[in-house]
Amino acid sequence: MENPIAVIDFGSQYTQLIVRRIREFGYFSKLYQPGELRDTGSPPAVILSGGPRSTLEPDAPDIDFDYLKSLGVPVLGVCYGMQLLNLKFGGSVAPGHTREYGPATLLTSPGNPLFDGVRDHSQIWMSHSDTCRMPETARILGENLDGIPVGLQWADNFFGIQFHPEVSHTDEGKKILRNFLNLAKNPTPFRIESFKDHLIERVRQEAAGRKVVCGVSGGVDSSVLAALLHESGVDTRYIFVDNGLLRKDEAREVQDQFRTVGIEIETVDASRQFLDALAGETDPEQKRRIIGRLFVDVFFNAVGDDVELLAQGTLYPDVIESATSGSIASTIKTHHNRVDRIMELKAQGRVIEPLDELFKDEVRDLGRTLGLPDPVVKRHPFPGPGLAVRCPGEITPEKLEIIRNADRIYIDLLRDRGWYDRVWQAYAALIPTKTVGVKGDERCYEYALSLRAVTSEDAMTAEWVHLPYELLAEISNRILNEVKGVNRVLYDISTKPPASIEWE
Ligand code: XMP
Repeated sequence: MENPIAVIDFGSQYTQLIVRRIREFGYFSKLYQPGELRDTGSPPAVILSGGPRSTLEPDAPDIDFDYLKSLGVPVLGVCYGMQLLNLKFGGSVAPGHTREYGPATLLTSPGNPLFDGVRDHSQIWMSHSDTCRMPETARILGENLDGIPVGLQWADNFFGIQFHPEVSHTDEGKKILRNFLNLAKNPTPFRIESFKDHLIERVRQEAAGRKVVCGVSGGVDSSVLAALLHESGVDTRYIFVDNGLLRKDEAREVQDQFRTVGIEIETVDASRQFLDALAGETDPEQKRRIIGRLFVDVFFNAVGDDVELLAQGTLYPDVIESATSGSIASTIKTHHNRVDRIMELKAQGRVIEPLDELFKDEVRDLGRTLGLPDPVVKRHPFPGPGLAVRCPGEITPEKLEIIRNADRIYIDLLRDRGWYDRVWQAYAALIPTKTVGVKGDERCYEYALSLRAVTSEDAMTAEWVHLPYELLAEISNRILNEVKGVNRVLYDISTKPPASIEWE
């Protein structure tokens, strides 16, 4: 797809959100580095993002202003972007005494296209320390309660705001962004159905008749990737590694799910190998390392010399952050030298990552458009090292069996009572401590279990879910009655931070 609305990244933590918002409005948008302005083609509009630096620093990030002007399209500078534009138009920027971070009030009057229909006295979210002294030719579109300009217009098509329209704390942020986008010149529509056609074309071109290998895990990203490869008709082997750390019946269920959309996967049962390698190991990092190393060995062993192209489910945020989560590499994030194998393939042009233009929710939409059923596209994230991170201490088949049985009861009840889709992730973990209890007339000495359910937007932070007591009581009763080896159930009420989502 061509001619995205270009968002130039000056490093703000919110920049990705601008791109997402624009796509939510139905326009295609992409992120570019300041030096990539000439790569934007004919953008219908340009947004210069915020950033942590000061335009007053000697090597402050800059933009090719002559080229920007020559595009003749609407430009919006946000925070750092506004200060940069102000300098370019002959204004100055003065260092602030303190960093202003948080809510402020927008005073605006009607009659300008950017704030059209925007409520006066609405809340805006600021994050800056420097302030603009504007040139005489500039027009003030809005001020804060101290009379400092927070909205400026320097020319017909050049606007700036000193706050973040993309964050939800700015009450009228969506309206302001939409007002700006209304000025864009023929923006390219973004609809997942047409994007699917673009991706199919892209996969066919990149594969160019070569044989593709795709690792599947049953998770959303790799499932959507597999469905896309299948729909594209490229010659693909789909490989699923059973590492013995999966949930109850998971290997079979994943196989069945793929079969319903016409995909046959090859399952490699390496569970024995993994459990043997993990025997006696209690250190969390060491456990991850063992699993990561073995995963790559098993996967490439199954692939053999047959791999011409490796397909990975890398998403857009991973690309932006230059991270590798959502890919095979992320499954083995603690074992970097083994990722070299994938890096080597990449350097040889033998890796394709067709989802690398999409955000997670867009991947889900694409999955639906490709005919994947809801249980696949709405699946909770499941970590690459599987139940290992939910089984602190030594991993044994007995402990894994307890986790599997309890997790199945828990998740089934969440689904049944309409809670599954309302939480980001839920699972049972085993606490490797036995405690005393009574079962029947007998004293017992068995494991304790922890149940966790969290909401989250991006897994960076998480809140525990306030499940109803009645539901918790039912889950606990069923686990205590039906799962052998457990006599105590606890509910985890820890936020992230400080607790992580998983136990290890
Ligand atoms: P934590 O426990 O770090 O988890 O709060 C954040 C999110 O990442 C998932 N997770 C992983 N995913 N490989 C993955 O693919 C891993 O090694 C891994 N470790 C944690 C976790 O389930 C949660 O969604």
